[in-house]
Amino acid sequence: MKHNDDPYRLSAKDKNLEGFEAALPGWFAVAFTSDLVRGKPFESALSGQTVAVFRDDAGNPVVLDAHCSHMGVKFTSGGRIVNGNVECPFHGFQFDKDGKCVKGYEGCKLPKNNKVKSYPAVERDGVIFAFFGEGEPWEFIEKRKSPRGKTWNRGVSQYRRVSLHGQQLHENTPDSGHFARVHGLEVLENSELTINKHVLTQYYAVRPFGLPKFLEDMRVKVNVTLVGLGYADTIVETPFFTSRTRIMTTQVTSTVTDIRLWVQVEKPRVFPRWMVTSLLGRQFFNETRQDVNILSEARFVEKPRLADGDGEILKFRKWAQQFHDVAAEKRRSLPVVG
Ligand code: FES
Ligand SMILES: [Fe+2]
Repeated sequence: MKHNDDPYRLSAKDKNLEGFEAALPGWFAVAFTSDLVRGKPFESALSGQTVAVFRDDAGNPVVLDAHCSHMGVKFTSGGRIVNGNVECPFHGFQFDKDGKCVKGYEGCKLPKNNKVKSYPAVERDGVIFAFFGEGEPWEFIEKRKSPRGKTWNRGVSQYRRVSLHGQQLHENTPDSGHFARVHGLEVLENSELTINKHVLTQYYAVRPFGLPKFLEDMRVKVNVTLVGLGYADTIVETPFFTSRTRIMTTQVTSTVTDIRLWVQVEKPRVFPRWMVTSLLGRQFFNETRQDVNILSEARFVEKPRLADGDGEILKFRKWAQQFHDVAAEKRRSLPVVG
């Protein structure tokens, strides 16, 4: 393996990511619909926990802690789904959608309060999300319709596990200073970040460098809605088509992140939709890859020496800090074992 190919080479300390938490509150993607295989739990991560994802009898998604409350075996180490419950591969205890143990082996008397943690789950446009955190889950915010009220096509998606904290990727939103160099985009307009509790929105307009003369006046309008540090649901409008991109990040640990990307397109004005979808998908996946490759080797600079054109990085960080604070508070309140 080449030196640069090793995504886990730098530790949290190396990267100065020690204040970055894994147990972030919010909605996080835990699987694509296509990941779920009938009869088997799917293993995934959620805010630093390992979870098992499957469907109950009614077909609704279920997300449970992956380790059995009996003796800690992982459901995904060969367990199966029986009548909508997950069955542990070791002694065969079964757990329902609420995480309650509903069946033991033949003749055994189940202990009281035998439960594993269950997480609220929803399935949206091909993705299963789970809510991590205390209290009522946040309202699920999404752009299911285009600005002209049209529906999106199925689109294209991609999954990768990478070595960075999701916040580093989402910080791209206000970081207009890298658009030209990394993405070949000229920034024409940049709104202030708008913050409403756990939701951050931003509008900007860009234009690719090197356009032919007749496209010189083209503007690409981008509206980003970032919901916690879990997912950005973004509408991109060009004169020829409108698209929706979702960047979904889920913490595996504080320095390793599952990234799920999805691009969808409204019926284009000019070109065939499949062509736009495939070109756009490729471009979006490549650009995210470029960001990730650079950022996974980066150190977090707490007091960046910002330049004029850098965008509202500090405002973004202040907003993001609320999620780390909740996670750190929770961690401190847990009993110390040993
Ligand atoms: S460890 Fe799961 S049933 Fe015993
Ligand atoms: Fe970027």
